[in-house]
Amino acid sequence: MSCRIVVDHVHFAYTLGQPVLRDISLWFDAGATAIIGENGAGKTTLMKLLNGLLKPTQGDVWVGDLNTRHHDPARIARHVGLVFQNPNDQIFKSRVLDEVMFGPLNIGLSESAARESALAALETVELAHLADENPYDLSYAQRKRICIASILAMQTPVVVFDEPTISQDDHGLRLIARIIRTLEAEGRTVISIVHDMNFAAEHFHRVIAMAEGEVVADGRPEDVFADEAVLRRARVDAPAMVKLSRATGLRRTCLTVPAFVASYLTEKDLRPPRR
Ligand SMILES: Nc1ncnc2c1ncn2[C@@H]1O[C@H](COP(=O)(O)OP(=O)(O)OP(=O)(O)O)[C@@H](O)[C@H]1O
Ligand SMILES: [Mg+2]
Repeated sequence: MSCRIVVDHVHFAYTLGQPVLRDISLWFDAGATAIIGENGAGKTTLMKLLNGLLKPTQGDVWVGDLNTRHHDPARIARHVGLVFQNPNDQIFKSRVLDEVMFGPLNIGLSESAARESALAALETVELAHLADENPYDLSYAQRKRICIASILAMQTPVVVFDEPTISQDDHGLRLIARIIRTLEAEGRTVISIVHDMNFAAEHFHRVIAMAEGEVVADGRPEDVFADEAVLRRARVDAPAMVKLSRATGLRRTCLTVPAFVASYLTEKDLRPPRR
């Protein structure tokens, strides 16, 4: 289940003469990509262009063979689901189940298929027991997970997350990591704005760094995070394991604790500790 997205020389401005995105060209296929970069870099704006909520000022965005310019957001939403940065901008129903069923119903599923899909998505985010609650009686972190469920329930080939890990505790982080891995394993395209660089380093195969409305790097996390000039421009900190790799003089840039330990032992010619 995949659907190629092509961003072709896209410029965007909310106000004439004040460019927010400048000449962005990118493509996305199956797999998980993290978008990183300073506040105001244009990350959320770019995500809204991917699902047709915004249209380019110049250039084109293609979702499969649909040019977003010529289709309304509801049509594009069958292919690209976007989980908003702020759940309060996304949630508008007064019952969790109705909220999560809204997307599937909107793209044409029957009442019973929408209910089934919504309940399965609520199970995935571990909130099925709250199906009858009012979302506004729940915590911000739970509302964020309800928004994730709303998009999962639509079963789109492309899933876009805008800072999914915000306000999640350690369990929430692992849950979101698992959701991303599952979507990837199903052959879907996952694009996520990530502000937690450790999370970006551990869970994504591709990282795109943005600054001032431009893409300043696009590549494997070990390459993007090893480039100090890029991190300075995008105003993001290096992930902890990247800093540790550098501080201990490793040749290899490691992204995870096990990778760091393995490389450290090999490069320093040490044996693994006995257990
Ligand atoms: N609806 C809007 N109308 C006018 N300007 C906007 C609007 N939304 C965003 N902007 C401006 O566009 C620029 C890019 O904003 P955007 O929200 O895309 O950045 P971002 O990278 O997602 O930032 P953050 O990390 O803070 O979420 C900012 O200067 C912002 O003030
Ligand atoms: Mg944003």
